Amino acid sequence: MISQLHADGTLRHLLTLAGLDRRLVEGLLERAQSYLRSPDRAPARNDSLTGLTVANLFSEPSTRTRASFELAAKRLGAEVINLHLHLSSRVKGESILDTVYTLAAMSIDVFVVRDAEPNVPQFVAENVGPRISVLSAGEAHLSHPTQGLLDALTVMRHKQRLDNRAITIVGDIRHSRVARSAVQAFTLLGVRDLRLVAPAGLMPDAAEFAGCQRFDDVDRALPGADVVMMLRIQKERMAETDIPDAASYFTRFGLSAARLKRARADAIVMHPGPMNRGVEIAEDVADGPQSVIREQVTNGVAVRMAVLEAVGRGILSSRQTR
Ligand code: NCD
Repeated sequence: MISQLHADGTLRHLLTLAGLDRRLVEGLLERAQSYLRSPDRAPARNDSLTGLTVANLFSEPSTRTRASFELAAKRLGAEVINLHLHLSSRVKGESILDTVYTLAAMSIDVFVVRDAEPNVPQFVAENVGPRISVLSAGEAHLSHPTQGLLDALTVMRHKQRLDNRAITIVGDIRHSRVARSAVQAFTLLGVRDLRLVAPAGLMPDAAEFAGCQRFDDVDRALPGADVVMMLRIQKERMAETDIPDAASYFTRFGLSAARLKRARADAIVMHPGPMNRGVEIAEDVADGPQSVIREQVTNGVAVRMAVLEAVGRGILSSRQTR
C-alpha cells in the first residue's frame, strides 16, 4: 500500500488508521479538541487553509460525513466542490483517473473519496501528483478512518483514560467499516476490553478483529461496559435473503432502555448514524441521557478540521517554497 506519510513523518493521505503511529493519532485528536466549542458559542474557524481547494467525490449516500468534510474545509478558509460520482465501476480503467486529472487541472489539492468498492481511495492516492492529498470518507466495508477518529475523540471526552475501559460494539460488524476503524482507533489508544456482538451471519471472519471478544448474546456483553456502540444493518452490502427481520432483530440485539441497564450506569451510547430507530436502538435510548450520538456528529467536524489542516498545511507550505 502507498505510504500515508511524507518523508518527514507528517500526514499526506488518510486512507486507513491501520499502521498509523499512536502519537500522530493523539496529535490529530488534540488538535480536534481545540476546535470544539460549547454549544452557545460560534463554531471555531480560522484561515489556515485559505488558498486550498477540496473536492468531495462521493459515490455512496452520505449525510454527516459529506456535510462535515465540507463545513470543516470551509471553516478553515478552504474552497470546496461536491461531486457525486460513480467511481468504482471504473476503478481499473482510465476514466476515474480522467476525472481526477481533470479536477487536478482546476487546482484541486485534496480529494475526499467515498466508494462502495475496496481500494478506490488508494487507487486515487497512487495516481495523483506529489502535492495532492487523498482522504478516505468510507471505503466499502473496510475503512472509515475519520469516523474511527471521531469515535475515539467522543469516548475520550467522556472517559478520559481509555486503557481501562470496556467497549461493546453491537450489530452488523461483518459489513461495518465503522467498526473496523473504531476498533483500530481504540486499540491504538490502549483499549484492551473490546467486545463484538452480532448474529452469526453478521460476525466477521475469525481472522479479523484479533484481540476482540465475540458474543452472540448482547446481554452477556454489556455488564461492565463503559461504551455501547450500536450499528446499522448494512442492507446494501448483503443479499436480500440475508437481511434479518427487524422485529426479531430488535428483540435479540436491539438496545432498549431495560437492556442498557446491564451496562455501567455511566455508560455512553454511540451510533455513527444513520439510525434505524426500533431496529438496532430504541427511540428513548437514542434520545436519552446516555446518548452521545449528536456529540459524535459535532466531533466529526472537529476531527475533519484537524485532518484537513494536517494535510493542507503541507500542501500550502510546499507551494510557498516553489
Ligand atoms: C456510516 C457509513 O457510511 O459507513 N455512516 C457514517 O459515515 N456516519 C455507517 C452506516 O452507513 O451505517
